[in-house]
Amino acid sequence: MLDVQKIRKDFPILNREVNGKPLVYLDNAATSQTPKQVIDVIVDYYQNYNANIHRGVHFLSQEATDKYEQARQKIQKHFNAKKSHEIIFTSGTTHGINLVANGFSSILKKGDEILVSAMEHHSNIVPWQMLAERTGALLKVIPMNEEGELVMDAFHDLLGAKTKLVFCNHISNALGTINPIKEIIESAHTVGAAVLIDGAQAAPHIQADVQALDVDFYTVSAHKMCGPTGVGVLYGKEEWLNKLPPYQGGGEMIAEVTFEKTTYAELPHKFEAGTPNICGGIAFGAALDYMNSIGFQKIAAYEHELLKYATEELLSIEGLRIYGTAQEKTSVISFNIEGVHPYDIGTILDKLGIAVRTGHHCAQPIMDFYKIPGTVRASFCFYNTKEEVDALVEGVKRARNMLL
Ligand code: ALA
Repeated sequence: MLDVQKIRKDFPILNREVNGKPLVYLDNAATSQTPKQVIDVIVDYYQNYNANIHRGVHFLSQEATDKYEQARQKIQKHFNAKKSHEIIFTSGTTHGINLVANGFSSILKKGDEILVSAMEHHSNIVPWQMLAERTGALLKVIPMNEEGELVMDAFHDLLGAKTKLVFCNHISNALGTINPIKEIIESAHTVGAAVLIDGAQAAPHIQADVQALDVDFYTVSAHKMCGPTGVGVLYGKEEWLNKLPPYQGGGEMIAEVTFEKTTYAELPHKFEAGTPNICGGIAFGAALDYMNSIGFQKIAAYEHELLKYATEELLSIEGLRIYGTAQEKTSVISFNIEGVHPYDIGTILDKLGIAVRTGHHCAQPIMDFYKIPGTVRASFCFYNTKEEVDALVEGVKRARNMLL
């Protein structure tokens, strides 16, 4: 079993008080907290070997380069990519998606079709709309049902010879649904379409194996999985990354430059123009070490228990509805209380030291589907406890009594 009290000692922020109350941090789907093992790595970098990478002959530059490339290899191993140059450092999931969308501008033609799921984050909708506008391709939507699951029959009907790209999240940030991405990838490949999976919400809970999934692109952010903000990776199959043109021009991504012509560097550098978030990349590696030292199976089992407990307890509150009741679900609960605005509940919870997110969660189409302005979202991490769930439930009851 997972020793949650021992784990909590690794996260200094969890000892904070907010509004005079012990912090109950339940906004992990927005960003997770950082353990001291990762904070120490960040401090060590700036105190001891801060230098630019891949450029200098000097000692510090070499040391920073080695640590950065070791982090890339850790990430490669974690996601089981075949080659380390299939791991492109980015500023986060949004950057990874835009890199791919931009690359497909020169591949898609008018009339080609792009499928995107109905439960995407705006970052996995807007770049494809922009791509469709640039190329004349059509964006089609894989619908979802009341439970917040994709309608797979409709997906199979939408797939056809014109389908060139399919985009879906592994786990919905707003509903917690775990999508059947293996089936989506397999089916998309039968018509020759490439698949990008937004793994931002899945990576903290599930260890994706990109080779077993046979996925073309998988993109994640470090800050959702105990790492720092401003860094993430895009995994891409080598053949695809070679086909796509660079996303940004600059230093580091070139082989040779004259005013007449530039040739591009090999992977991964072709996609890594400019000085990257060196410390962030190294800290991302440390965050993976930390999570793996606990173990993803233990994490998933514990979070599932928390989800079950929190779901049962919240549903005992009169007028409370949970949005997203999929069979396969992770530790995210989006809910509303009839007659109460989600923002008001969030504000009262904050006064009690409980951090949740309220609003549309950057997924307005989901809110439109349910015809609501937004929800209150509590999202749990492996360092949360049943006592914190109890505090949430008490807080929501109190808010209900005050607001109704
Ligand atoms: N995508 C993040 C969330 O769901 C920011 O809150």
